[in-house]
Amino acid sequence: MTRVFSGIQPSGVPTLGNYLGAIRNWVPMQDTHESIFCVVDLHAITQWQDPKELARQTREMAAALIACGLDPRRCILFIQSHVHAHARLAWIFNCVARIGWLNRMTQFKDKAGKDREAASSGLYVYPNLMAADILTYHASKVPVGDDQKQHLELANDIAQKFNHDYGVDFFPTIEPLIQGVAARVMSLRDGTRKMSKSDPSDQSRINLTDDHDTIALKIRRARTDSEPLPDHAAGLEGRAEARNLVGILAGITNTLPENVLREHGGKGFSEFKEVLVAALVAHLDPIRTEMARLLDDPAALDAELRLGADRAEAIAAPICARAEEIVGF
Ligand code: ADP
Ligand code: NA
Repeated sequence: MTRVFSGIQPSGVPTLGNYLGAIRNWVPMQDTHESIFCVVDLHAITQWQDPKELARQTREMAAALIACGLDPRRCILFIQSHVHAHARLAWIFNCVARIGWLNRMTQFKDKAGKDREAASSGLYVYPNLMAADILTYHASKVPVGDDQKQHLELANDIAQKFNHDYGVDFFPTIEPLIQGVAARVMSLRDGTRKMSKSDPSDQSRINLTDDHDTIALKIRRARTDSEPLPDHAAGLEGRAEARNLVGILAGITNTLPENVLREHGGKGFSEFKEVLVAALVAHLDPIRTEMARLLDDPAALDAELRLGADRAEAIAAPICARAEEIVGF
């Protein structure tokens, strides 16, 4: 079975963007691939996190993943910092990747903001750690949202340069699996920015922990234009906010935007938004309830995650050790 790896940062509550762009697509892979999923707390601290909050959010993210359908019996689910191979291989990759490659990463520019000099050096080398996350499992397929494509290309450059510099054929080529109509969910406040858990505005996103009233409020306040919905996809041209809401409904109801427009074309947004709220609540409510149940028994959850870390370690440690041998350690 092909081995897949994917990770998610515990830098906040998982959003609808994480769900539609990533988590939901991971669920069926458990039966078709050897699946490894990781809560990447090493990545989270590239931007300062309150330690108590980080610990809480890490557990919360793990609970969210299980509530969304990841089953620790059918996949390996663990916390990144529990498996040391990630950081060790990342150091080697820091020495393989070129500064010029990192300078081209658009996410660094987005996340560092205006004062780039004040960003952590960890944020800068984040893609090297991401390459290590994947390659220390020799994973060849990586299901991610469209926002991560550039990082995966860099991971391949690193793998190739490592193989070339040391004259080995050790690291495989990685292929991104970018899936679904909602591969990029945009902010509810600004159709040109992606929805992100690290966006300072809570109004910009739907969190998987949002209840009915919160979802309703956020969707009603979501920015739109004043035209009714078109009845075919070409009519969404130049209407980023409308396109986003249509994409969300299509994603959550497992259909294509064309079908959403065939059904709802001609409606104004006040009417369409109520349809969207109902669909979101119906889909997300069971997840929220299950998350709360899992978080009620932290000891059981932690035990599950320790078991996951042991299984991850058994794969990652020998591959990392071999890479260390190759460089001469
Ligand atoms: P965030 O930017 O919300 O902190 P992460 O960097 O932890 O998200 O990414 C976790 C996964 O969720 C990745 O596979 C990423 O591609 C996906 N993802 C994040 N935001 C979105 C979005 N707005 N739309 C689609 N997928 C997304
Ligand atoms: Na991201």
